Amino acid sequence: MLSLLGSVVLLATLGIAGSTPTCYVGINGNPALCVTCNGSCTPSSGCKCATSLSSCLPDPQTCPMNSTSCCLPNLSWYPDLACCIEEPYCTPACLADEVCQYVNNTPACAANATYYQSLGLSVNNVSSTVSCKGANMTISVEKNLLEALHYNPAASTLSQYNCTGAVLDTLQGQHVYSLTVQTAEGTCGNTMTKNLSHVSFTNYINIPGLITNGIITTGNISIQFSCSYNITMQTSLYTVFKPVMITENLNTGGTGVDAGATLAAYVNPTYTNPMQQSQQEDLPIGSTVYFGMTTQFPDPAFVLRVEQCFATPTKDGTGSLKITLIQGGCAIDNGPYIEVVENGKSKEVRFSVTSFAFQGYNTVYIFCNARLCSIASGSCSKCSSSREASLETVQFGLGPFTFQENIDYSASNQKGLSVTLLFGSLLCLWIQLISEML
Ligand SMILES: *[C@@H]1O[C@H](CO)[C@@H](O)[C@H](O)[C@H]1NC(C)=O
Ligand SMILES: *[C@@H]1O[C@H](CO)[C@@H](O)[C@H](O)[C@H]1NC(C)=O
Ligand SMILES: *[C@@H]1O[C@H](CO)[C@@H](O)[C@H](O)[C@H]1NC(C)=O
Ligand SMILES: *[C@@H]1O[C@H](CO)[C@@H](O)[C@H](O)[C@H]1NC(C)=O
Ligand SMILES: *[C@@H]1O[C@H](CO)[C@@H](O)[C@H](O)[C@H]1NC(C)=O
Ligand SMILES: *[C@@H]1O[C@H](CO)[C@@H](O)[C@H](O)[C@H]1NC(C)=O
Ligand SMILES: *[C@@H]1O[C@H](CO)[C@@H](O)[C@H](O)[C@H]1NC(C)=O
Ligand SMILES: *[C@@H]1O[C@H](CO)[C@@H](O)[C@H](O)[C@H]1NC(C)=O
Ligand SMILES: *[C@@H]1O[C@H](CO)[C@@H](O)[C@H](O)[C@H]1NC(C)=O
Ligand SMILES: *[C@@H]1O[C@H](CO)[C@@H](O)[C@H](O)[C@H]1NC(C)=O
Repeated sequence: MLSLLGSVVLLATLGIAGSTPTCYVGINGNPALCVTCNGSCTPSSGCKCATSLSSCLPDPQTCPMNSTSCCLPNLSWYPDLACCIEEPYCTPACLADEVCQYVNNTPACAANATYYQSLGLSVNNVSSTVSCKGANMTISVEKNLLEALHYNPAASTLSQYNCTGAVLDTLQGQHVYSLTVQTAEGTCGNTMTKNLSHVSFTNYINIPGLITNGIITTGNISIQFSCSYNITMQTSLYTVFKPVMITENLNTGGTGVDAGATLAAYVNPTYTNPMQQSQQEDLPIGSTVYFGMTTQFPDPAFVLRVEQCFATPTKDGTGSLKITLIQGGCAIDNGPYIEVVENGKSKEVRFSVTSFAFQGYNTVYIFCNARLCSIASGSCSKCSSSREASLETVQFGLGPFTFQENIDYSASNQKGLSVTLLFGSLLCLWIQLISEML
């Protein structure tokens, strides 16, 4: 492909030597120059005479928009002369494998069909590029080769045909059409496969044939693509249908950098099995809920720190009933039911809470206040409620979590109870016997 590009550049350089364009002045004073009919130009309707409203030609240097919007159909704006010319002229310039030509009466870059025909390429030579960024995967296909082969890449879809919206982009000096899909199972026909270490999403791009005069000249092309992710606290959230999670923007002190952070609930101590919304109101009493927070904030000089967490039975977190879980970045009183696994050491925070912490409440909401912490401060992972100058915290709320008496659990509990009763009554009997003997 590289050598191919090289030859395109060479051809294009040779092809530039042509005649210098001249400003178009009409034929026998038709259309009129705008100056002769007191005309004016607007971006929406072009250049018109003041009285007759017929089109006129802008004089050099007089188009206020300096663009093809001042030019009549099948004319192009030529910046060097600041007037309209007859030859097609594209701004920005076309790429090496393209020609500037009139499409729907305006100049546009299109695949150089002569060039592509001379290469004798086929559908087998269509290349694609996949980019896996965060929760998105993007597939890009070569615009010009596909168009030269009579396909319509602008109308590409994903495996679900209603997922459309291909975007024109430039990638490694070539025009491509790109489609982006979120990494979630089922979205636009994504399929997910998962093993112990990785999760992969697969889809395919469907490129339809060009329809000319109502006739489709070629069948669709379909190209499969996939993205694989290490299973982490963050990427595991893609693997379940509706994870229990909340995303908020952290305070960056007005730098404008994206500092989205996510607090999610997990069911396993490695924080890789997110709790699903369908599970959240049916948690067995005594179970542990693992809470993980991550941020994508790029600056390595900062870590994520949860300052405070508390639980309440109310949705808005304002009620008077409050159970403090984390204070000053650490578990409250080293509470036996709360464990802070990691805080203020990286871009991830981990802590777990067993439901016994909420004894007396069936339904709880969790609220946490978090901030970015400058490593230079030296106090990000310390237990403190210091008043030092730091970024304001942002509150994250999750819930409701509802704890149900688990059937197995209560059954074994009853057994335990009856055994105790039995022992108790045996003991009574024994004491009675002893006392009778005395
Ligand atoms: C030319 O048009 C402008 C408004 O576009 C108007 O103010 C001016 O009087 C016109 N001049 C003549 C000579 O018609
Ligand atoms: C158009 O070009 C002229 C001179 O070349 C310049 O003064 C003017 O600001 C330009 N207008 C726009 C909208 O770029
Ligand atoms: C522009 O040029 C094309 C091809 O040369 C021609 O078919 C079309 O009618 C022209 N359009 C106008 C408005 O003159
Ligand atoms: C298009 O490709 C042909 C054949 O390679 C070449 O001769 C021609 O100069 C190219 N046109 C442009 C505008 O680059
Ligand atoms: C185009 O595809 C054919 C068949 O797969 C292959 O033989 C040929 O080398 C490819 N050409 C280029 C320029 O990649
Ligand atoms: C993912 O795509 C959505 C829109 O589809 C966009 O808002 C978001 O910024 C993208 N995320 C990344 C990491 O590119
Ligand atoms: C596409 O269609 C499916 C069902 O046919 C529907 O569930 C889905 O929401 C649609 N997607 C879009 C982006 O319209
Ligand atoms: C898990 O899947 C990934 C990506 O599909 C693969 O590279 C890796 O070898 C697989 N690991 C195991 C243990 O199967
Ligand atoms: C080709 O793709 C279009 C959607 O772009 C779809 O409607 C059509 O059914 C597909 N044709 C075939 C033969 O798969
Ligand atoms: C994925 O995990 C492997 C091994 O655990 C590690 O070497 C690699 O850097 C990880 N990749 C990413 C993108 O985190």
